[in-house]
Amino acid sequence: MMNMPLNLTPPVINPNAEKVLSKRYYRKDENGQCVEDATGLFWRVASSVAAEEAKYEQSPWKPDALARAFYDMMTDWRFLPNSPTLMNAGSELGQLSACFVLPVGDSIEEIFDAVKFAAMIHKSGGGTGFSFSRLRPKNSRVGTTGGVASGPVSFLRIFNTATEQIKQGGTRRGANMGILRIDHPDILEFIRAKEQEGEFNNFNLSVGITEAFMQAVEQDRDYALVNPASGKEQGRLNAREVFNLLVDKAWQSGDPGIIFLDRINRDNPTPAQGEIESTNPCGEQPLLPYEACNLGSLNLSSFFVPGHLDETNPADRGIDWAGIERTIALAVRFLDNVVDASQFPLERIAEQVRRNRKIGLGVMGWADLLYQLRIPYDSADAITLAERIMDFIETRGRAASIQLAAERGPFPAYETSVYPTKGIPPLRNATITTIAPTGTLSILAGCSSGVEPLFALSFARNVMDGERLMEVNPHFEEALREIDCYSQPLLEGVAELGSIQSLDQLPEDLRRVFVTAMDIAPEWHLRMQAAFQRHTDNAVSKTVNLPNSATRDDIFAIYWMAYEEGCKGVTVYRDGSKSTQVLTTSAPA
Ligand code: CDP
Repeated sequence: MMNMPLNLTPPVINPNAEKVLSKRYYRKDENGQCVEDATGLFWRVASSVAAEEAKYEQSPWKPDALARAFYDMMTDWRFLPNSPTLMNAGSELGQLSACFVLPVGDSIEEIFDAVKFAAMIHKSGGGTGFSFSRLRPKNSRVGTTGGVASGPVSFLRIFNTATEQIKQGGTRRGANMGILRIDHPDILEFIRAKEQEGEFNNFNLSVGITEAFMQAVEQDRDYALVNPASGKEQGRLNAREVFNLLVDKAWQSGDPGIIFLDRINRDNPTPAQGEIESTNPCGEQPLLPYEACNLGSLNLSSFFVPGHLDETNPADRGIDWAGIERTIALAVRFLDNVVDASQFPLERIAEQVRRNRKIGLGVMGWADLLYQLRIPYDSADAITLAERIMDFIETRGRAASIQLAAERGPFPAYETSVYPTKGIPPLRNATITTIAPTGTLSILAGCSSGVEPLFALSFARNVMDGERLMEVNPHFEEALREIDCYSQPLLEGVAELGSIQSLDQLPEDLRRVFVTAMDIAPEWHLRMQAAFQRHTDNAVSKTVNLPNSATRDDIFAIYWMAYEEGCKGVTVYRDGSKSTQVLTTSAPA
């Protein structure tokens, strides 16, 4: 590792972040004592990722200057790479990606290979997605033994149990995505798999929806179930009844979600390498079998400039666009270096990753930026700005990848990818943008997560091991102080309610801007997801929150809207439909 410069500025760390860092991220000795602090951690990450630069002769950067630039962009909380990079960069383990997809073949050997590979990935801090669609249905004959097959849902249980036993990187339990195609004969059992709370608790489940199925729903027709082992039709179901069952289960518990498989494959940049059958655990990263991807997020709220006025274009007011552009270029270089620096648990994964070199640059702190700009999340202005920012990241991100391709060569599969026929010049990375949930990163950066609205203006956060952390949104606090409304009793009241919409004593314009997840109509959640999706190569992690009183028809309408708006999938959550929520206000559900 490069020597740590003596004049590094230590980052300013909020108490929640310090807690998370010392519990999970700082390197520890054999007695569990931390052997680094935040400066040490970010220098370890910056210097080891920058060291990759040395092998590229055409690089305009010297590794030590680049390390410094990486260090500054992370410690100013402008950009953070995904958790495994923070945990493992510069360490012996060296596995830096958050997202993996593994194939599950239709044989005992292949199924248990996948269980084993998943365990290896979880150990290194990554999450795994699987499609179970190739498994023969329950009760089909098994040639070698003359017995009957258990079917996808039964095997899913084995993956779930194995995950239970392995902590990711010794710090958190593994996360999985399980996908089954809508035309698999076991689809009804799959849709009902999480009926009982606690079942398959290490899995998010999503149904892989096809265009043919959606058309059958629209026309209220039957559709065919197909046995993947024989390729033959095995029964028919009424599409609308199946869709209603999906809606019903999502209404009850939020599970399963849906992903639009054909749409994901329409955007597959490397179809010559096969079909995409699954995403990573939180749904934002579709990947080929054995592919992995590392993510990173720009903290949009860190680019807010108070009082900044661009005379030529008033819409630019309040955002440091030049700063975002510089950070994008650095972040793309960082993420591409991570592809080189990362060590993978399987050679096959390493090969697949280095063929396409996918990276996923996204955003966090979006709701905070809207608060800072005083733009309501559920407004046309917010949607317009979302598109503008993501368009900016998409085009500048692509330019950065083109620049890297000029220095280092394009991703090896570029020639057989869709890009040459689209007239897109050589890129270093098959995908560049993804919007991650940033569950932990946003705590570290002290901003709102991903593109989600705030859950509450003041709330208790349930983190690891049932601990609760109290938080008040800093922009809300500032706005209250500006109008002389800041007081402890008021904040406690807000913590109790989560929202300020019923607090008539507060000015109307304040209430209009400081909306929270439950104040926002589901359609606006969806519109926001769709706005970001329009400029994202991969997908957008987003939950459409609905009030407890939402009906099945409301969920039906959201699913339909997701389809029509071009989303790649949708996850809904009806307030109070699970007994343990990740985020809760202190008010009883
Ligand atoms: O904020 P952080 O980098 O920790 O993660 P995130 O943005 O919330 O999640 C990004 C991806 O990391 C997820 O989609 C999963 O692929 C993976 N992940 C995981 O494997 N296990 C977790 N407990 C959380 C995330």
